[in-house]
Amino acid sequence: MLKCIAVMTSGGDSPGMNAAARAVVRTALYEGVEVWGINNGYKGMIEDDMCKLESRHVGDIIQRGGTFLGTARSPEFKTEEGRKTAVENLKKHGIEGLVIIGGDGSLTGGALLSKLGIPIVGLPGTIDNDVWGTDYTIGADTAANTIVEAINKLRDTASAHRRIIIIEVMGRKSGWLAMMAGIAGGAEFVLVPEVKYNIDQMCVELKEAYDNGKRYSIVVVAEGVGSAIDIGKVVAEKTGIDTRVSVLGHIQRGGSPSVEDRIKASMLGEKAALALISGISNVVFGFDAGKVVSIDLNDAVSNQKTLDPELIRLARVLA
Ligand code: ADP
Ligand code: F6P
Repeated sequence: MLKCIAVMTSGGDSPGMNAAARAVVRTALYEGVEVWGINNGYKGMIEDDMCKLESRHVGDIIQRGGTFLGTARSPEFKTEEGRKTAVENLKKHGIEGLVIIGGDGSLTGGALLSKLGIPIVGLPGTIDNDVWGTDYTIGADTAANTIVEAINKLRDTASAHRRIIIIEVMGRKSGWLAMMAGIAGGAEFVLVPEVKYNIDQMCVELKEAYDNGKRYSIVVVAEGVGSAIDIGKVVAEKTGIDTRVSVLGHIQRGGSPSVEDRIKASMLGEKAALALISGISNVVFGFDAGKVVSIDLNDAVSNQKTLDPELIRLARVLA
């Protein structure tokens, strides 16, 4: 039984990280275990920016996006020296184990920490939904809903003007967000980093649809494919149709978490705390087919999640 654990958020923030951290804190306290919060991810761990948490510290946060613990990207943690300092700081406060809420980069850092003797339990926290072994990552549902709301609005103005709208969404390496929002938003084309696209063919089809009386088209582009602004210029030139580009940016990463994100993050937070306290480590908790599952931490960080081919097919069929 561990007597003192810590929780940290790291990498890109995502809506629901607060709900997960809250669940970790409240579960630990319920079990009579001391719990610390590390501020600003690995940066705070190296700078010894951490404090003991009580129940009231996590009040009034379940409904908030972002993360009350703060987050950061820490190049220093990628060095052996940085990780050594981080471990010394944890030990100094009697912290025996750590819950890390973050994306694949943060979990990779966690795998290295565990090799230095710190028990780690990871939770997938990223809007990209690109962590291997889990269907779900904290924040992806809220972000997809935000994008769909934006598409709905863009659709109104596109229809009014008979335009093509190209909307760029996040996803450097993963097209999950683009694909989900594209299907749910009724996009004509979804361009993702996982699938090669043919811009000439796309322009022919956009032009055909327009000539057949279609009032507007929506093209969703994941940022990893390339700049939507550049793609928009080519589309305008090749189709001769009035085209506008909208880069959604960080709006899609903020906002109040959806019910799904609040509930699933809370379930994962409780599981993570209970597992860590009972001596289980080197795992990531996620969801598979609606059920909480545990994934080996090293497997989670050494495998690449692929985009479900069924989604790619469905997007094409329904367009
Ligand atoms: P995310 O967790 O959202 O994928 P990043 O990839 O930026 O975000 O990772 C967050 C932080 O995790 C990095 O700033 C770094 O401190 C740490 N990290 C990422 N990759 C590694 C790595 N290969 N080795 C050590 N630490 C890493
Ligand atoms: O959180 C992941 C992510 O949203 C990526 O999709 C995106 O490329 C990146 O973060 C941008 O993050 P930042 O602007 O904070 O570096």
